[in-house]
Amino acid sequence: MSEWTFGFDAAAAATGDTLQARIGAALVAEVRRGRLPPGSRLPGSRRLAEAFGVHRNTVLAALRALEAEGWLVARPGSGTYVAADLPDRLESAWTAGARSIAPTQPGFDFAPAPEQPVPVPPHGALVLAGGAPDLRRVPVTALTRAWRRALTVAGGTLLGYGPPEGHPALRSALADLTSRVRGLSAGPEQVIVTRGAQQALDLVARAFVRPGDVVAVEVLGYPPAWSALERAGARLLPLPVDGDGLDVEALERAAAANPVRAVYLTPHHQFPTMVPLSPGRRARLLSLAAAHRMIVIEDDYDNELHHVGRPLLPLASADRAGVVIYVGTLSKILAPGLRIGFAVAPAQVITRLAAERRVVDRQGDRALEAAVAELLEDGEVQRHARRMRRLYSARRDALVLALRAELGDALAFDVPAGGVALWARLRRDLPFDAWVAACRARGVWFQTAAELCRPEVRPPPCVRLGFASLEEEALRRAAVHMGEALPR
Ligand SMILES: Cc1ncc(COP(=O)(O)O)c(C=O)c1O
Repeated sequence: MSEWTFGFDAAAAATGDTLQARIGAALVAEVRRGRLPPGSRLPGSRRLAEAFGVHRNTVLAALRALEAEGWLVARPGSGTYVAADLPDRLESAWTAGARSIAPTQPGFDFAPAPEQPVPVPPHGALVLAGGAPDLRRVPVTALTRAWRRALTVAGGTLLGYGPPEGHPALRSALADLTSRVRGLSAGPEQVIVTRGAQQALDLVARAFVRPGDVVAVEVLGYPPAWSALERAGARLLPLPVDGDGLDVEALERAAAANPVRAVYLTPHHQFPTMVPLSPGRRARLLSLAAAHRMIVIEDDYDNELHHVGRPLLPLASADRAGVVIYVGTLSKILAPGLRIGFAVAPAQVITRLAAERRVVDRQGDRALEAAVAELLEDGEVQRHARRMRRLYSARRDALVLALRAELGDALAFDVPAGGVALWARLRRDLPFDAWVAACRARGVWFQTAAELCRPEVRPPPCVRLGFASLEEEALRRAAVHMGEALPR
């Protein structure tokens, strides 16, 4: 073997692999080329280290890895040999440039996702994102401190497995929050912590909706919830929304004609129109649901963000029949990236949801849950909510003034009593699609009714303008561009 020289070929070197991987690739290449035939003995590790110009330990690590893959066999006292029975010609991680042959096309058939891809704003656009809070204001210092404590106390036990219902401290803190402020009077055993409201909705759909079940939904409404329900096999029944919220009479008529398994709604600030469900309709909906044993999925996504007066109490606070599954989230009031949501319902319902959760992702991030529980217990989240309410009210007012000044009667809207977005209608005689396109061309992005609609319903010429994540000055600039985008 004295004539052998080893080296890295340029292709292998260009992959950016570790030295060990490149030695492995070089040896496999020699075997493939036949210069190291099956059964032949390799030079000693010292010689190889010299030839490659690396430390001997690096060579030994590469040899061990090649042995594990079946390319080499070590015979104690004798040396290392190329295996008599080589692994077949399958490409291996050792093959130089193996990454470049990773398939880019699937080799099997599947149906594409049913949802339409949502257009993505370009970098630097003024995005009036309907759902986003101001992430720059998240109390990260307090959160980091609490998180660090949670990770280090109790010998790191929170990094292990835990109950799928969530950390007990957070279940308690959420039970407390919903009881004190939202009138629910639930105990911790009636709470499951989820990864955002979205997972709560998905678990509800998995646990309680069977293929073919009819689920009534508000249209316009919240498409991610519809997707979760449809994935479980629900047939969605679109119901209209007016100035009093969901049309409960329409639901009554539907339920009289055919079984309706569930209704999904946003009674506090109807998404996206921001209308609260009227007291009369609330009472009627609860008695209808009780009479039909219909599940009421109440999505109370922005309870804390009420700018005027007190927030309405959730439907769940008046539910005496055990039909409401209450879904909440910390996405609006803290940050959506934390993925902390929850559901409140009778304990048997929670146990059933936990069984689904165990299958889907087993459990949440326990340390994060403990940290957020601490922030709730010491009032940090509540103080943050108060600060954000003031900030968002000011931003809402700035946007309202700017829209009135720049668009006049071209855009009609009610000033929302809460939430992080404003729902506005373009005057009928104006070309809606052309205006939206002109706004986008000027770098202003927002959601349109078409994105929040069902295919069987014609979308109105409406837009959802989020004001929480932009400074007042940026909101004013956005309004100026929206005004310029109107036809002359
Ligand atoms: C109607 C509605 N429900 C729920 C959510 C919150 O979802 P998540 O908690 O999964 O972030 C949002 C957020 O935009 C929403 O608008």
